[in-house]
Amino acid sequence: MILELKSYGHLEMVGTLVSQLTKGCSPEEIRAAGLGDYYTDHGISVYPQSASGVPFNAMTLAVKGDPITDLTEDMAAEQKARSTYEYLIDLADDPDVINVLKFLREREVVHFQRFGEALRTVEEKLAERKFYMNNMNNTNNSCGCNEDKGNGTCNGGCSNPRR
Ligand SMILES: [Fe+2]
Repeated sequence: MILELKSYGHLEMVGTLVSQLTKGCSPEEIRAAGLGDYYTDHGISVYPQSASGVPFNAMTLAVKGDPITDLTEDMAAEQKARSTYEYLIDLADDPDVINVLKFLREREVVHFQRFGEALRTVEEKLAERKFYMNNMNNTNNSCGCNEDKGNGTCNGGCSNPRR
């Protein structure tokens, strides 16, 4: 969840980048940049959507409720984000924009590593033998002690009063 909140931080950084790049642009410049459709729908406001124009919504959040499934999905999402930043770097020509994109790409690599570590931890935990502290043979004494190993009586050696 914390890592996902960081992704919203990335969204904020990209939104700020787009806002700075479009600030003061004329409609002619926006049209020449291929953003005429976007400008028609959203002006120069930042509107979260895919490069092909699909708006961001909760359908992009994948949660199954199984830790292995969800962590594997998270790892895939980090790789998708990494490759998206690499494609954006390919398309960019402004060094300042490229630096921001490189920073964000590096974060996705780190996130992938952290999710991988979490997945390994969960897999190791699930592979552990179960150990139960409760031995049913020792819980039946009426005084509550475990002196007599299950026959329901105490030999009097415990600190609990006999009933
Ligand atoms: Fe990430």
